[in-house]
Amino acid sequence: MSEILTATGVDLSYGSQLAVRDAHLSVSAGEVVAITGQSGSGKSSLLYCLAGVLPVTRGQVRFEGRTLGDLSDDEISTLRRERFGFVFQYGELLPELTVEENTALPLRLAGQRKRPALAAAGEVLERLGLGDLRERRPAQVSGGQSQRVAVARSLVHRPAVVFADEPTGSLDSANADAVLKEFLDLARSQGTAVILVTHDHAIAAQADTHYTMSDGVLGPRGAR
Ligand SMILES: Nc1ncnc2c1ncn2[C@@H]1O[C@H](COP(=O)(O)OP(=O)(O)OP(=O)(O)O)[C@@H](O)[C@H]1O
Ligand SMILES: [Mg+2]
Repeated sequence: MSEILTATGVDLSYGSQLAVRDAHLSVSAGEVVAITGQSGSGKSSLLYCLAGVLPVTRGQVRFEGRTLGDLSDDEISTLRRERFGFVFQYGELLPELTVEENTALPLRLAGQRKRPALAAAGEVLERLGLGDLRERRPAQVSGGQSQRVAVARSLVHRPAVVFADEPTGSLDSANADAVLKEFLDLARSQGTAVILVTHDHAIAAQADTHYTMSDGVLGPRGAR
């Protein structure tokens, strides 16, 4: 498999605090990578560096051979909008938009017209078993359903990489498993690489590759 995202010697500091230390990681197209570790170990911080949300303090992140640190703000924004998908750690659907409109957001931001964007959103929602909820607003769906909508939105524009920070965080284990399975099926059928942060070892066990993070240090790569 070809590598699409690599991190080499990445540090991330918040002021004097080093949250990520000398991280090395490589991800191939279609690969599912899980990162586990205790609260505060630096998982979200690393994910933000990999996704170009935070600039690294030291080292390099390369996506398809381009070093993120060499790109302009505009180039990074375009990359994030068009090639990356995100499922954030905390709830993030826009309350005034319907489920369908929330899901279509990445396509709308990329300039797609409303009708085809909503149609594509409807298809992904259908595949995730959420077709009946299209017209509802986030306040009118359950916590698990809104997490699945966030998953749908992260995949709707067929990104190269999805960064998912605790995508099943607020679910019981049966629901978490079901959501993850749907997520991975859809990602795999699109050839998307997924970098998944989780506290849940049962979830991590479903990934192709597993890294453990402890006190800012990413452990060696382990295959399943
Ligand atoms: N904006 C910030 N400013 C200063 N310190 C921060 C900031 N964000 C995170 N930290 C610190 O950096 C370290 C790593 O935080 P991070 O959020 O990456 O951990 P995490 O592994 O994602 O934890 P959790 O599992 O609780 O989400 C922690 O010590 C945290 O307190
Ligand atoms: Mg976190």
